[in-house]
Amino acid sequence: MSQLRPQLRPLGAALGTEVLGMDLATPIDAAALGWIETAFAEHPVLVFRDQRLGAADMLRFARQFGAPQPHILERYRHPDFAEVSYISNVGADGRIDPAGNDRATSWHADETYNETLPRLAMLHAIEVPSARGGTIFADMRAAHDALPEASRQRIAGLTGTHRWLAGPARAWTLYRKTEAEAKAHPERRHPAVLTHPVSGRPILFVNPSHSTGFVGMDPEAGEALVAELSDFAVQDRFTYYHQWRAGDLLMWDELATMHRGAGDAPPQERRVMLRTIVHPN
Ligand code: SIN
Repeated sequence: MSQLRPQLRPLGAALGTEVLGMDLATPIDAAALGWIETAFAEHPVLVFRDQRLGAADMLRFARQFGAPQPHILERYRHPDFAEVSYISNVGADGRIDPAGNDRATSWHADETYNETLPRLAMLHAIEVPSARGGTIFADMRAAHDALPEASRQRIAGLTGTHRWLAGPARAWTLYRKTEAEAKAHPERRHPAVLTHPVSGRPILFVNPSHSTGFVGMDPEAGEALVAELSDFAVQDRFTYYHQWRAGDLLMWDELATMHRGAGDAPPQERRVMLRTIVHPN
């Protein structure tokens, strides 16, 4: 293995696992990659500390896990690498952009409004605020397993409907969009309970940003059920608040988790991250 005896250390009771002893700026070999894959199958939020990666380094690392994709919001794309986007509250003029503080602060999993679901995503913290400003993750495997039996049976055979930002969280408002704009996007369908392709575990696959309801269900009842299931999943016992340090590279499983920006940093302080979303090969 090219890396020195990497180790895992739990960060939160539910999720969040720190990886010690890995330098991602140097190419990793097959043994190190296999080690990460094994750890990731069990721990769907991995945090590599003290990394200093540019967009090209981050992409090189991400490509070992699949195919990074350009994001739907073109204005945030990195000028040289379309598959890397900025998650930032700093505008082109260098001033704080309030839209950047709001963005991604409702619970979601990325791109469930697409036919092809992503495998994982990565955030790399470049500048962090002096306090808070974290990202929160929910374990959708544990949430599924803890559902009351009647709820598990109710959703077992359901197919969920998804549209960009059109779910009960009303996330379109965070993106300065109208409800009509959100609802104009095509509807995609995914099972309400997914079987994870690596771990084989069942996952509660709803999120209140993009899940709009369920096939064959009255729209209002469907939206209410999405909200109820999402509220259940974000109880403290299933979640982890990641307090960023500059240099963190965090990768998360897009099927096994939901996430959101906490949106709780001092609003005038800079928060700049690189992000890439990776599809399966
Ligand atoms: C994201 O949803 O990718 C960003 C979350 C955050 O800003 O913490």
